[in-house]
Amino acid sequence: MRINGKKYRTIWYEDDVVKIIDQTKLPHQFIIKDLKTIKDAVKAIKTMEVRGAPLIGGTAAYGIVLAIQENKNLDFIKKSSEELVNSRPTAINLQWAVHRMNNRLSFVKSDELLDVALKEAKLICDEDVKFCENIGFNGLKIIEEIYNKNNKTVNILTHCNAGWLATIDWGTATSPIYHAHKKGIPIHVWVDETRPRNQGANLTSYELNEENIPNTIIADNTGGILMQRGEVDMCIVGTDRTLSTGDVCNKIGTYLKALAAFDNNIPFYVALPSSTIDWDIKDYKKIPIEERDSMELSHIEGIDEQNNIKRVLIYPKKSKSINLAFDITPAKYVTGLITEKGICKASINGLKQMFSKL
Ligand code: MRU
Repeated sequence: MRINGKKYRTIWYEDDVVKIIDQTKLPHQFIIKDLKTIKDAVKAIKTMEVRGAPLIGGTAAYGIVLAIQENKNLDFIKKSSEELVNSRPTAINLQWAVHRMNNRLSFVKSDELLDVALKEAKLICDEDVKFCENIGFNGLKIIEEIYNKNNKTVNILTHCNAGWLATIDWGTATSPIYHAHKKGIPIHVWVDETRPRNQGANLTSYELNEENIPNTIIADNTGGILMQRGEVDMCIVGTDRTLSTGDVCNKIGTYLKALAAFDNNIPFYVALPSSTIDWDIKDYKKIPIEERDSMELSHIEGIDEQNNIKRVLIYPKKSKSINLAFDITPAKYVTGLITEKGICKASINGLKQMFSKL
């Protein structure tokens, strides 16, 4: 999608380095950063210079490329793979991409490793673009139906950033929105601020602005009253890991939005590529939930009048806080899963019909 009218992907390989958009600097500074080593790739994922489940997967794939560029020794590649898998625990795309890269590389001759790894990393990213584009075509049908019924601007609520910045391009939750906008359907997006890191305000609103899509940032607790007032037609969110049972793990606060949507009879959709499905874990309590530094809660970052990015403390110095990054929305609150193959019920049968893997 576009920034300042120029088309970008979130990650690409050029002149032996991996290029990323440093998301810790958005929306105030647009900086393209070079990742040159496996350490750079691991750090980019840990510090959330790149974030969002599909983009973490893409970065991990290119991380393996960087590891091979440094050292073709199999023990080094194995150690690098482990470091990547351990860099963030919840989004399953990370381990999915690392396993896929390692499977592809097994039995490949040493002098061909780099070439094969590069092709596979590029393929993982290209596939993600195609899948997210298809999610858009599939989700568009729901938006069109609402528009044809009401014949007025469709109000969509989203949480966190499941936009193109969280993927390689298009986004998951935002892809149907971009497609609807292209088709001329009037859309307005309620963007949950998404404390503590404000991915909604800093990233989703930013990318929607760049595509001229009307949007309004709301505090995370505002969605409920908007739903009660009839000002939300549907919710679409992304996911970091969806179980074959249809239970959805996504950014903290998603669950409360789903409860409010359920209470107000508002459709609540989750958009995902198949790389985000965990086919193994059946019990959502077994999903590893990332706990991040409580500084992300107690401090806030912004820009001062001299355009310097500043971080300030907003809590009493002595107060304790806990920063759980994800929660679970049980399948019963999910109206449907919008995937690259179509829309299905958030259930074993729904996913079974859509994908043959179960
Ligand atoms: O902690 P983050 O910013 O990586 O969390 C991202 C999300 O929760 C997204 O909603 C999810 O990864 C879906 S991305 C298409």
